[in-house]
Parts: sequence; C-alpha cells; structure tokens
Amino acid sequence: MTPSEVKATLAFSDGSPTMELPIYKGSIGPDVIDIRKLYAQTGKFTYDPGFLSTASCNSTITYIDGDKGELLYRGYPIEQLAVSCDYLETCYLLLHGELPNASQKADFEHRVMHHTMVHEQMQHFLRGFRRDAHPMAVMTGLVGAMSAFYHDSTDINNPEHREIAAIRLIAKMPTLVAMAYKYTIGQPYIYPKNDLSYAGNFMRMMFATPCEDYHPNEVLVRAMDRIFTLHADHEQNASTSTVRLCGSSGTNPFAAIAAGVACLWGPAHGGANEACLNMLADIQNQGGVAKIGEFIKQVKDKNSGVKLMGFGHRVYKNYDPRAKLMRETCHEVLGELGLQNDPMFKLAMELEKIALEDEYFVARKLYPNVDFYSGIVQRAIGIPVPLFTAIFALARTVGWIAQLNEMIGDPEYKIGRPRQLFVGAVSRDVKPIGQR
Ligand code: SDX
Repeated sequence: MTPSEVKATLAFSDGSPTMELPIYKGSIGPDVIDIRKLYAQTGKFTYDPGFLSTASCNSTITYIDGDKGELLYRGYPIEQLAVSCDYLETCYLLLHGELPNASQKADFEHRVMHHTMVHEQMQHFLRGFRRDAHPMAVMTGLVGAMSAFYHDSTDINNPEHREIAAIRLIAKMPTLVAMAYKYTIGQPYIYPKNDLSYAGNFMRMMFATPCEDYHPNEVLVRAMDRIFTLHADHEQNASTSTVRLCGSSGTNPFAAIAAGVACLWGPAHGGANEACLNMLADIQNQGGVAKIGEFIKQVKDKNSGVKLMGFGHRVYKNYDPRAKLMRETCHEVLGELGLQNDPMFKLAMELEKIALEDEYFVARKLYPNVDFYSGIVQRAIGIPVPLFTAIFALARTVGWIAQLNEMIGDPEYKIGRPRQLFVGAVSRDVKPIGQR
C-alpha cells in the first residue's frame, strides 16, 4: 500500500487538538484512512456496525468493483477464469498468486486428488446426527472434527502445515459433503476415485451407489466445476472475515474454516441459494408467473419481512458478474437435459425482469447476486436443495484458506479485537434479593 500525498485532518468542535490521519492508496479501489493511532491520540473509537466503511486488512487476492459489477481473482476477470480455467487451476491461483503452468497444474491436481479420503473414523461423527439434520449442521461438525485427526498440520504459524492443511481441506471437502448427503438419504458412502476430475469425483460420490456406478455427464461436470469457481472467493465477506478473525487467535486452520462454514449458513449469506429456491418453489406452488406481482408487493411491504432472496448485495450495486455466468450455466445445463422449459427457470427469469424494472429495486440498486440462479442449476444437476450451501462451503474453502494464509503471513497481523460504544448500565450496587 502506497502513502498518499493527501492527508485527512480530524478536527473537533470542542477545541480538542486536531489530528492528521495518513491515507493509503491500493493498486485499484478506494483509498483508506489509517485510524490505527486514533484511540491512542484522541481516546475515541470509530463506529461502523456492519463495517460498511471499514477496510479490515490489505489483500492481494480478490478485487470487487461493486459499481461496475467487476470481480477479479488475483487480477484475472471471473468471466475469463470461469471459461478458460477449471476449479483446481483457480485454487492454485488463489493460493499462490499465479495461474499454474502445465507441470504445476499436474502436480497440484495429483496432490489434491491423492488426499481425497478422510480418516475412516470420521464416519462415526455422522452417526451422532439425526438423519434429517441439515447438511450445514453436519459440515460444521465434520470440518471442525478434522482438527482431531490431522495433528501434523494444525500449527497455523508453520508454512508447511498451512500448505498441507490447504491441500487436505480442498481435497476432503467434496468427500465430506457427499458423506453428509448420503447419510441423510440412508445410502452407504461412496469412496473417492482419484482418477476422476475434482468435480466428476464429487458427483460420483454423490450419485453412485454400491449397486450402480455413476458416469458423470461432461456438460454437468463442467457446470459443477464452474459453480465451484464462481464461489471460490469474494474479498472480505462475512464468512471470510469470520475465518480471519477466528484464525487471528492462532487456532488451527480446520477450526477457523469450520467457523466460516457456520457463518456461511445464514440466509443473508451463503444460505440465500437454498432460501431463493424455496422462494421460487413457493411462488410456483401459489400460481407461478401470475403470482409474481403479488409477491413483489409483499417484498416492498417492510412489515412483511419478505425479501427477494438472491437479490441485493453489500458491495455490488450493479449486476453480480457471477449471476450472469450462472444464468448462462443454467441455459447450458437445462439445454443438455432437455429442460429448456423448466418452469422454475422461466419463473426466475420473469421475476428478475420484473424486479429490474421496478422502482423499488432500481432505487436501491438491487440486482441478482450469485445465489439467484445457482439453486436452479444445482437442482437441475440433481443436487438436493438443503445441500446448496454445503456446496457453496466446499467451493469457498480455498478462498477462506487463501485469505487466512495471507493474514498469518502478514508480519503486521494481530489478534482481531474490536471495541464498542457502551450504552448499558453504568456501575451500580447489587441489592439483596429481598430488595430487588
Ligand atoms: C452472498 O458479501 C459477499 O460478498 C457475500 C457473497 C459472497 O460471495 O461471499 O456475495 C455471497 O452472501 C450473496 C448475498 C446473498 N443474500 C441474499 O440474496 C439475501 C437477500 N439479500 C439481502 O438480505 C441483502 O441484500 C444483503 C444482506 C445481501 C445485503 O444487505 P445490506 O447491504 O445490509 O443492505 P440493506 O439490508 O441495508 O438493504 C438496503 C435496502 C433496504 O431497504 P431500505 O431500508 O433502504 O428501504 O435494500 C433493501 C433493504 O430492505 N433490500 C432488499 C433486499 N436486499 C436489500 N429488499 C428486498 N429484497 C432484498 N433481497
């Protein structure tokens, strides 16, 4: 980060001494005002619940321009990566900062695809869950439980441990997600097959049974792989910030990633894809396209508590580039499966069209985000709705790891410990219970 010639001066109307604050420039994007000395010099905190105006770190991994609807992983536009690269190339890029050459790609793929099995005892954790447990409850448990099995890669400050933990997490998440799915439907687990592609192996573990193998359709595999790429990283979103804050205590990488899984589950974040498909199903059941007007009216009524799931974003005030790519993937998959007239897809496109013409959405710059179409394409592939967010977690694991490693590798990093504006009761004495 480059010091700017421009300085910020903080003046107070009560005659307190003014303070000059340095400003730093990044390579692109908004400058930052360095307030690290503010409290020491003024005795005051800044106040920014939800962090709308707060940069928590400096990073070289992912850049988002919300006004332009631009997303870059290590400088490469998501539109190019989603078409020209596969997910494991993108993982290599996010972890190492450069796209792999042919031999680096082959070596990375070999390492990942030879760490796909999980410790056989991991199965015992699943038996503790009800069969109807939400897959994200299972995944939060299983990812955290990995800390109990991989003691040789839990020292976050050891670069070799960080490297092997990254490989293990990227390699084993598909196996764990498929196990979580098989457990809920009462089918035996399918072991990974290392000669398949990353996405192909995942789909086989999901849909094969001991009685009948599964030969993935290449169009569907490519679509699954692209879904992973589109979800791989996204700057300092809620779950990534959770992983950074959790990891800043020095805890092991598996525990930090488990915290990210737990945060991603929320419907305002990664849980929105499941909530979006349930929303579309509800509209469909109530009459489909004919009912869109009524639904939009509900959304605009603040008291209804109804939101248009899959729409809106803290950063994008334009179309989420991932939503465009996801809609194209929808077209491809539905075309391949002869489902061009899938009523849910038609409903989603009509809902998008109406919303984008409605003043309520236009005024608030609410556009489709990554979650609006991802559920439709996953459902078409055969992924059950409750598993959508677990697949988001699978794909985002590499982004969480890259961001965690970047933080740990920064000599300036400290444990994260925000302060507060206290508005509660000031000091008072305890009264005997008879006087309360
Ligand atoms: C992800 O951060 C990331 O990068 C996340 C993510 C990633 O890759 O990691 O991109 C993944 O989480 C995508 C977002 C998925 N969530 C949803 O689709 C859920 C629906 N969206 C909303 O909950 C909301 O848009 C958020 C949570 C995504 C963003 O909320 P903000 O930035 O806090 O904005 P806000 O709630 O203050 O909304 C501003 C206005 C409000 O209206 P007013 O009070 O100004 O009148 O827009 C309204 C909101 O009520 N609004 C919506 C809406 N989203 C915002 N109204 C209806 N439907 C919506 N979806």
